[in-house]
Amino acid sequence: MIVVFLGPPGAGKGTQAKLLSQRMGFYHLSTGDILREAVKKQTPLGIKAKEYMDRGELVPDSLIIALIEEYLPEKGGVILDGFPRTIAQAEALESMLNAKGKKLSKVILFDSPDEAIIDRLSGRRVCSSCGALYHVKYNPPKKDEICDFCGGSLVQREDDKEAVVEKRLEVYRKQTEPLIDFYRKKNIIYRLDATKGVEELFSELEGIIKDDG
Ligand code: AP5
Repeated sequence: MIVVFLGPPGAGKGTQAKLLSQRMGFYHLSTGDILREAVKKQTPLGIKAKEYMDRGELVPDSLIIALIEEYLPEKGGVILDGFPRTIAQAEALESMLNAKGKKLSKVILFDSPDEAIIDRLSGRRVCSSCGALYHVKYNPPKKDEICDFCGGSLVQREDDKEAVVEKRLEVYRKQTEPLIDFYRKKNIIYRLDATKGVEELFSELEGIIKDDG
């Protein structure tokens, strides 16, 4: 089963994808996480991607499509978190899956107003070592600025600074929102009210994923 998580920055896609992977065994393929790792290691992809990410812009389609071709597993359930983000990426995914005799099962739209997004992104902290996600208000660590799981230090993502968040939202509206119509026409999109709490959202998501009808 291949499921796409679509929605504005900070809507909670990564949080739910991590839960689905822990509780239901899905492979969590996050283009953002792969790119951040490449930036950290200063690989050729990371060096190219960094300039776009720091500005809150999308990394060029050709780089992202090549990345998905490399990382998409052949078997098992997969959550595509943060991909596709443009119509060109969605079309490339379709051809990639067609070529393997597969198709996209469901697209989950994490719907959230801008105020909630800004609140979530400004308070987000990420473990610099294991990538665990926290929020200063909604999911604080037990010890200030220290990861509960591995003891790593918590940091704020560069692109969570206010000016970059505004740009990311603008890019989402212009380049990614058209995908809602694209998938609506294919009748595979499901909307979640992403302002709900983590566990409430998870049980709705689980219901959608398990529903065969
Ligand atoms: P990416 O990392 O994909 O960022 P994003 O889509 O902007 O999503 P975020 O990771 O910011 O948010 P999220 O929805 O996962 O929310 P989270 O669960 O963390 O992309 C980064 C950059 O990489 C892009 O700008 C672009 O440059 C590049 N890129 C990536 N993919 C690309 C592509 N396909 N094409 C081109 N470029 C690409 O939650 C946010 C916070 O809220 C956390 O603190 C969390 O603890 C808290 N929270 C989560 N859920 C809840 C809840 N229900 N209630 C209360 N708090 C909550």
